[in-house]
Amino acid sequence: MNIAIDGPAGAGKSTIAKKLAKEMGFVYVDTGAMYRAMALYFLEQKTDSSDEDAVTSASDAVNITIRYENGEQQVILNGENVNGKIRSEEVGSMASSVSIYPNVRKKLVSLQQKLAADTDVIMDGRDIGTCVLPHAEVKIYLTASSRARAKRRYDELQAKGVTCDFEAVQKDIEERDYRDMHRKESPLKQAEDAVLVDSSNMTIEQVVQEIQKICREKAVCR
Ligand code: DC
Repeated sequence: MNIAIDGPAGAGKSTIAKKLAKEMGFVYVDTGAMYRAMALYFLEQKTDSSDEDAVTSASDAVNITIRYENGEQQVILNGENVNGKIRSEEVGSMASSVSIYPNVRKKLVSLQQKLAADTDVIMDGRDIGTCVLPHAEVKIYLTASSRARAKRRYDELQAKGVTCDFEAVQKDIEERDYRDMHRKESPLKQAEDAVLVDSSNMTIEQVVQEIQKICREKAVCR
């Protein structure tokens, strides 16, 4: 059984998906982490993200695999565990820029489909319900206003002691939304059979309960 959760940056997908996976006994697959690992490689190689040919040829040398340690997904880039290196804004923004290219996507989509073929997964990303797992039993489109998402990101950064400007965080989120929603290849959009959940005024627990209710209605919860 597969559950697909798509939505824009900062909607809470990974927090929610992780909790759901734990409670339901599914494996959580974070596809954004795979795009981030690719992006890290291009940053390290100083590949120009606006040059499709350069990105395509550099991507031939990239091997990404996934392994689980204590239930946590680890992304392995050319033999190195890069989990500790992919969470920065710089890597996220590079991931959004290079994920527009078909060659980058092809490699990762096939890895994602293989993972879901063998196991019950909750997979989150941008194109899971529309492209990676079109036959997923449950599809959720999880969103929130750009203001609510920026507030969450801003609070997270503040808690880490990073000084930042709220307006700049919101602008960054809106730019990322635009890029992810307007690219030609598998843009972020709600699948026709996905259920929309707007978390702007919901707590994490309320979102988890809402999705579990949707799963029960579709008879996926155990
Ligand atoms: O979810 P995230 O912030 O870790 O994702 C980083 C970027 O990777 C996102 O802005 C677009 C890209 N991405 C994608 O194109 N398709 C996915 N399934 C997941 C992420």
